Amino acid sequence: MKGTNSESNEKLNSSDFSTLHQNDWMLISAIKSKDLVSIDEAAKLSKLNRDAVLRSAFTLKELKLIEIKEDAKESFNITAEGERFLNEGYPEQKVAEAAEKGTQIEKLTEEQRRVGVPWALKNGWIDVSLGKLKLRAKPKSYALTEGLKQIKEGRVPDKKVLDLLISRKNATMKVSKNYEIRLTAEGKKAAEKAKEKPSSEVNELTHEMITSGKWKEIVLRKYNTEAEVEKPIFGTQHPLTSYIEKVRDIFVSMGFEEMEGPEVESSFWNFDALFTPQDHPARELHDTFYLNQPKYVSFPNDVAEKVKQAQESSWKYSWDPNIAEQTVLRTHTTPVSARTLVEIAKKKKTPGKYFVIGRVYRNEATDFSHLAEFHQIEGIVVWKKANFRHLIGLLQEFYNRLGFRKIRFRPHYFPYTEPSLEIDVYLEERKQWLELGGAGIFRPEVTKPLWGDYPVLAWGLGLERTLLLQMGEKDLRKFYQNDLHWLRSNAVLKLKQ
Ligand code: PHE
Repeated sequence: MKGTNSESNEKLNSSDFSTLHQNDWMLISAIKSKDLVSIDEAAKLSKLNRDAVLRSAFTLKELKLIEIKEDAKESFNITAEGERFLNEGYPEQKVAEAAEKGTQIEKLTEEQRRVGVPWALKNGWIDVSLGKLKLRAKPKSYALTEGLKQIKEGRVPDKKVLDLLISRKNATMKVSKNYEIRLTAEGKKAAEKAKEKPSSEVNELTHEMITSGKWKEIVLRKYNTEAEVEKPIFGTQHPLTSYIEKVRDIFVSMGFEEMEGPEVESSFWNFDALFTPQDHPARELHDTFYLNQPKYVSFPNDVAEKVKQAQESSWKYSWDPNIAEQTVLRTHTTPVSARTLVEIAKKKKTPGKYFVIGRVYRNEATDFSHLAEFHQIEGIVVWKKANFRHLIGLLQEFYNRLGFRKIRFRPHYFPYTEPSLEIDVYLEERKQWLELGGAGIFRPEVTKPLWGDYPVLAWGLGLERTLLLQMGEKDLRKFYQNDLHWLRSNAVLKLKQ
């Protein structure tokens, strides 16, 4: 219990102490004629247990009725290893003895070599040359052994020795707190009032008291509703989840429908349907996770026929369906757009605006700015009249709604879009542009086989990076570490508001 704030202290102090618990009153009465008493003594006098005394003492301290004197006592103990070194001697002492006999290093035990030699060297006891130990000076006594003896006798060794013993884990330190309490002048006044308190004060109203009508006779203790209590730890959404919802809300409010697609995908949808040639470097293992189970996955033949034609007439090679069958973890969310184009063409559901927020996988080494698994925000506008200005306007609107003011577009290259662009956001504090994602207009070679018409505006944007920026964090891995302390921290909660 942390106590009350000063405003409520005053209120309570000037009132009749009606929020005090019976234990508090018992403690006050028990120690009223004493000077400083220990918690154990107070427990004996008041017939309360130690915890109850402590709890009451701290409540009463906040109300300035009790004064608490705190003194921390350090005590030291020898560990099992310390005990062994005390009995057998330290490894470095053994090494010094061995050095006296001119022993070879390899004759030493593992511990003597690992622990003893470095310390013996550091202490200036030995020299080592050509694998042989040579004695420089043999110590008569060793400060560490003396220190351990002192601890054993209940004495406190010299600070330097003590620190070394603790850092070598030969001894441990325990800090125990001792409290002594006494009433303040205010507390003594309260003790006088204690006599007037009705002895039958009740803390809790029970069902039985109500039904029996006994409630009419009892005196209920008042609650202190302003007492500070421990912060409750409650479940909240993970910041990534709330952010995904926020992004989803933005697209829905802009009239977009959500599309769906699998994370385990065929190379066909991940690459081929997106006009990516079968020998494109992005397909190679350093970027793409290929799966062994299932190793192959099918795709619709009718669509494949059209994709094959588009690829063969442009790339002048023979398109191989076996390569398209290989299973991958999708490397981007654009295959969902490709699938959606086929679906809405079938249902004649064009024009239309679609989005998806999904996980993607890339075979990359992870560090603070790279993850092998992250989310993309994908979208398409399927509309014969759509143009490049619509694309820029949409992205600008999206990022504005997300809270980014200054963004820019740069020309770029993707196999499936023309023109293609990259989107950057400006970071005021760092005076720096940061890349957020790619976009463009799907080429006719993509849209004709899938939808049968042209054009389609498309984009794929990183999710984690923008969230990281908005949280003022630096390390992308934070989102995947499940660090409870961080998840409960203000940074995360602030984001929700
Ligand atoms: N798929 C691209 C990427 O992963 C982004 C993109 C999507 C680019 C749609 C253009 C159109 O980087």
